[in-house]
Amino acid sequence: MILESIQVVVLTGAGISVESGIPDFRSPGGLWTKYDPLLYGTYESFVNHPERFWEMAKELHPTLENAEPNPAHYALAELERLGKCRAVITQNIDNLHQRAGSTDVLELHGTHRSGHCMSCRRVFTLEEMNELSEYGECVACCPEDDATIKPDVVFFGEPLDSKVLSRAAELASTSDLMLVVGCSLEVYPAAALPEYTKRRKGRLVFINTIATYHDDQADLVCLGKAGDVLPAIVESYKKLAGIG
Ligand code: APR
Repeated sequence: MILESIQVVVLTGAGISVESGIPDFRSPGGLWTKYDPLLYGTYESFVNHPERFWEMAKELHPTLENAEPNPAHYALAELERLGKCRAVITQNIDNLHQRAGSTDVLELHGTHRSGHCMSCRRVFTLEEMNELSEYGECVACCPEDDATIKPDVVFFGEPLDSKVLSRAAELASTSDLMLVVGCSLEVYPAAALPEYTKRRKGRLVFINTIATYHDDQADLVCLGKAGDVLPAIVESYKKLAGIG
């Protein structure tokens, strides 16, 4: 399918980073099985109880800091170099696609690498937020006006960046193949993107360790770990395309 396709786009979720040691959200042991997303993951809960986010961030900090891209991330970067991945649309905030070499990454749910003061909008790096929150011991507040600093991740109930979302929709609706990797497809608007590809008669390949409620949309479902399946897909594409 990759050989026959002109415009390939990839949609990734937390599952692609599980083999980098970062838990996903809804699998057993996932983040939302430990922290109630209604108390820890909504914009309203952050505004009213920001200490909850930093409590969760304190536990996640070493995992995120020690995480390295895994073979799945590197396989997508190679697919881009082979001209067969226009962009990676990710729901992840871990920056691993960029560190693996993907150059066109749309972060639908933002990034953990920066934050903004909720009052004066001053920008803070992750390192500055870690220091100001004493690595999750307390809420990170702006040194200028003591207002809460909000990390640039998208919380439930918070709008996505409209420019990122409209570009993602445009990519999905102009691609003839979308690889959907490590996504439960339970959270919208990201979960609607495969439909955009389908609607323009594009094909869908799902790569996941378990079935999703949307598998009937897929032209092919590869059940397996992304770190095994994606490198194998790239290798067989190179063989078929006669690329050494
Ligand atoms: N390889 C492939 N798929 C995997 C792997 C793996 N090694 N490990 C887990 N998965 C699959 C799981 O089976 C699951 O279907 O990845 C999927 C991860 O689903 P979720 O945990 O729901 O993560 P995601 O789809 O990214 O969630 C979407 O929900 O809470 C919000 O903002 C958060 O971006 C997140 C969004």
